[in-house]
Amino acid sequence: MAETILDLRELPRAAAYAELMEQVNLVLEDIDDPVAAMATISALVHGALGFLWTGFYRVVEPGTLLRVGPYQGSLGCLEISFGKGVCGTAAQESRTIIVEDVALYPGHITCDVRSRSEIVVPVFNRTGKLMAVLDVDSEKPGAFTEEDQAGLEEIVRWFQRAA
Ligand code: SME
Repeated sequence: MAETILDLRELPRAAAYAELMEQVNLVLEDIDDPVAAMATISALVHGALGFLWTGFYRVVEPGTLLRVGPYQGSLGCLEISFGKGVCGTAAQESRTIIVEDVALYPGHITCDVRSRSEIVVPVFNRTGKLMAVLDVDSEKPGAFTEEDQAGLEEIVRWFQRAA
């Protein structure tokens, strides 16, 4: 395998996600290991879009507890309870949450003080169970839109097909 991480920051976001999806499918073609996939997706998304933090929190106690998984960026918090912060709320409600300004989100958990906005996307496995959330943080306020939601939700559908 000789794939390189593409820098897609200059592309319109939807086109960048289309490229990313193609690359994820290519690199993970013969893989069904979720941790390998989380590590690879974190590296590809982080390298392509250049956000502050890109990574996964895994469900380790269903309905109760998330623990950090593969990620890229500065040190992440280790554990988050369901219902706490953006990640725990997205997990509890099994839905994507976009936070335009983390200072205005009650209960936001600060892992890196530079983070200003955030998107968290639920990740479901082959049987439809919530297995993780994908969290992406930016240093800029309002960095994420519905295009990021659509793109990231499409990328994590990989786990529904393969994990
Ligand atoms: N801000 C997140 C915590 C995870 S870190 O940002 C990596 C939250 O409120 O759930």
